[in-house]
Formats: sequence, C-alpha cells, structure tokens
Amino acid sequence: MKVDILLGLQWGDEGKGKIVDVLTPQYDIIARFQGGPNAGHTLEFDGIKHVLHTIPSGIFHPTAVNLVGNGVVIDPVIFKRELDNLAPFGIDIPKKLLISRKAHLILPTHRLLDAASEAAKGKAKIGSTLKGIGPTYMDKTGRNGIRVGDIELPNWKEKYRALANKHEAMIASYKADIQYDLAELEVAFFGAIETLKTLDFIDSEAYLFDAMAQGKSILAEGAQGSLLDIDFGTYPFVTSSNTTAAGACTGLGIAPNKIKEVFGIFKAYTTRVGSGPFPTELFDEVGATMGRVGNEFGATTGRPRRCGWLDLVALKYAVAINGVTQLMMMKGDVLSGFDKLKVCTAYNYQGKTITHFPYDIDPELVTPVYTELPGWKEDLTGMTQADQLPKELMAYIEFLEVELGVPIKIVSVGPDRKQTILR
Ligand code: GDP
Ligand code: IMO
Ligand code: MG
Repeated sequence: MKVDILLGLQWGDEGKGKIVDVLTPQYDIIARFQGGPNAGHTLEFDGIKHVLHTIPSGIFHPTAVNLVGNGVVIDPVIFKRELDNLAPFGIDIPKKLLISRKAHLILPTHRLLDAASEAAKGKAKIGSTLKGIGPTYMDKTGRNGIRVGDIELPNWKEKYRALANKHEAMIASYKADIQYDLAELEVAFFGAIETLKTLDFIDSEAYLFDAMAQGKSILAEGAQGSLLDIDFGTYPFVTSSNTTAAGACTGLGIAPNKIKEVFGIFKAYTTRVGSGPFPTELFDEVGATMGRVGNEFGATTGRPRRCGWLDLVALKYAVAINGVTQLMMMKGDVLSGFDKLKVCTAYNYQGKTITHFPYDIDPELVTPVYTELPGWKEDLTGMTQADQLPKELMAYIEFLEVELGVPIKIVSVGPDRKQTILR
C-alpha cells in the first residue's frame, strides 16, 4: 500500500497533468483532492494534446481508476464537455471514473456570483477564472452547498431553487452589470446533471479505506499551486481551497500518517496568471521570451501568464509547508539560450535581507536578491537521459538541490510524455 501526493509548488500550471500521466502506470488509483474547473491540466502523447479540468490526469491509462474526491467542486456543464472530449478515445468511463458523493456542485448562479464579485472589486479583482470556485466553496463552508449525493434524493431541486433564488438576490446586490438568462443556463445545467448521473457516485473515503486495506497504491493529484493556497498563499490573490499537502487529507479522507512521498512540481522559472504580487516578475524581453518559448497561456482561460525568474524564497516555503520529499523540475528546455540565469535567493524586505516568505510580498515592500548562474545553449527537447544534459543545467539543478535540501528526481524537457528524464 502507498499513498503519494503530487502538487504544484508555485502559482499553478507547473505541469502537474503531464507528470500525473507519466506516473499513472505505477498506481491503482489517481484521486483529485481539491479545486475544480479553474484547473487546466495538459497532457501530450502520440501527437495529441489533451486538457483536463475536473477529471484526474490518469484517465488515459488502461488500468488506473480515477476518482474525483470530496474536496473537489464540480461544474456538471464543464464536466460533460470534458467527457464529450474524451469520447473519441475509447475509454471505459463508467468503469474508470468515480465521483465522491461529498463533492460539491458548482451551480450556474455560482459562476454569475463570481463574475459579479470580480466586477464589483474593479482594480482589486482577484483575476479569478470566473468558474464559480469562490462562491461554491463559500456555500460549502457556509453549510449551504449542494453535494453530488444530494442529486440522488427526490427533493434536491427544491433545495436548488432556494439556493439559486438567494444567489439571484445576492447578484442584484452587487449592482454590477451582469446580464444573464438563468432559464437557459439551467437547461444546460440540468441536462449535464443527467450525464453526471451516468457515473457511479460513491462514498469515496470508504472506497479508499478498502483500497488501502487491499494494499493498493494511490496518487493524490493536486490542482493550482501552493502559493494559491487559501491559508498559505498570497491572500487574497489565491484560490478558495487548500492546495497544499494537508488538502489531500481533507479532500480525500486519507489520514496524514498514510502519506508516503510528496512530489513537488516546479517550473525552472516562475509564472502566474491573474492578479497578485510576484516579486521576480519580468517586464522585459527576457520575460517575454519565457512566455513565447514556454507558450505561457492559461490552459483554462487562454490568458497570457506573467513570467519571471525562479524564486527560491517562495519555493523553500512551499517545500516546507508540503513536506516535499522529491522535486520535479519542469520546462528546463524553455531556459535554453540565455547567457545568464538569475535565481532569487533572498528578499530585500523594508531594508533588511530576509530568506523567509513574509506576510506580504507586495513589490513595494520586497525586492528580490539574485544569484547569477551560467546558462546553456543546447536544445534539450530531444534528450532522454540525465547524462546528456548540459553541465550548466546540471550545475543549476545541483544549486537548487543544495538550497532546497530535496533531490530533483525528474527533469522535464518538453510537453510530451516521452520528454521526461529520470535521475
Ligand atoms: P498544470 O496545470 O500544472 O497541469 O500545467 P498546465 O497544463 O496548465 O501548464 C503546463 C504547460 O506546460 C502545458 O502546456 C504543458 O503541455 C507544458 N509542459 C509541461 N512540461 C513541459 C516541459 O518540460 N517543457 C515544455 N516546453 N512544456 C511543458
Ligand atoms: P492549475 O491546476 C493557475 C488562479 C486564477 C486567479 C486565482 C483565483 O491548472 O494549475 P479562482 O478561479 O480559483 O477563483 O482564481 O487563482 N488560478 C490558477 N492559476 N493555474 C490554475 O490551476 C489556477 N486555478 C486558479 O488565475 O489568479
Ligand atoms: Mg494548468
């Protein structure tokens, strides 16, 4: 039996989907533990690119069961679209995809509330993906939410109507210019609920207890990144769930002492999409090159991602919060061609040099302190073995391992499944 967790250490989009797909053959169950369709997890193999939002990234392998855990919020409309996209690939969905009864549903009015809240915030907006994530988790913690298990009950539409009515009053109170036709949105919503009902809803914690008792192996798949965590991220510019390792325990019902490895994924540089502070952000040609070469556009919203140098102050913080046991460095190929690479090893914070991640990392307070390392020119994308990697890249990796105190076990050199080097 083993339970491992895989999660992002930055502001999301580190390449979680790709690595979950690569690791899936080693596991019996792949279980998403938090977030919802704000996530966009990209996988590439056989010349095809797939983007998953709610469905775990183990779905393309023949054996593993994929579980959408209790900590996840599900938009039936987006979920149905994901299933439609998978239809050509001959996957036995009812057998391979299970849903926790305790997962909460994103209603059409949650999406509208997200839009109204963002519009009302004006310049201070979070830059939400507008998928209704915040309002749905608010209803969960406010004890008003509708769960997947509810839709098996005869009176759930009354509960739905009462909540939707309340939401409409709330939307109006924002006085934001939100145009909508709820009746039309509900046709799509209730249609998609019927599709959702073709899957097995389960008491997923009990399913996982049994799986563990039978010695099965489980990989918990995170969404977003540690710096978007509701408690430990750059609040308020965060998402509404615990994206960190603890979220895997609450989002699946797995006890902390069952967790073995915590795989932490990071890009060789940093990106962020949406608003919020980003100390190492670059506004020059170097940042533009990272964005262009790295194709840094959001997998869910298509928005350009902000780019900057690797921030080791933030990364060390994420390693500590999650108890990371193995690191995976993604997109090293994107850094090929720079003469010098910079890595932020400390912050200048109100005149003092600090190495811990402070309460507020607003650029007005924080200036990054950089260490420079030599770059490499070689194209990495065709490399398959660690001994082919240029010596400057090896020096970069070894520098990070010393700073972070955790080994880097995978180096990813391209989006394809095959472009993955084990060390
Ligand atoms: P996730 O949300 O963490 O699963 O990451 P995304 O899928 O949102 O973003 C990662 C992007 O980088 C996707 O377009 C991947 O196909 C791509 N990608 C992943 N690993 C690599 C890599 O090593 N090199 C390059 N160039 N692209 C990669
Ligand atoms: P994956 O799983 C990157 C960001 C949004 C916004 C903030 C809050 O693909 O790494 P929300 O819609 O959650 O209320 O938005 O969080 N965000 C992500 N950024 N990758 C993601 O997921 C993200 N999910 C949310 O851009 O800044
Ligand atoms: Mg993503």
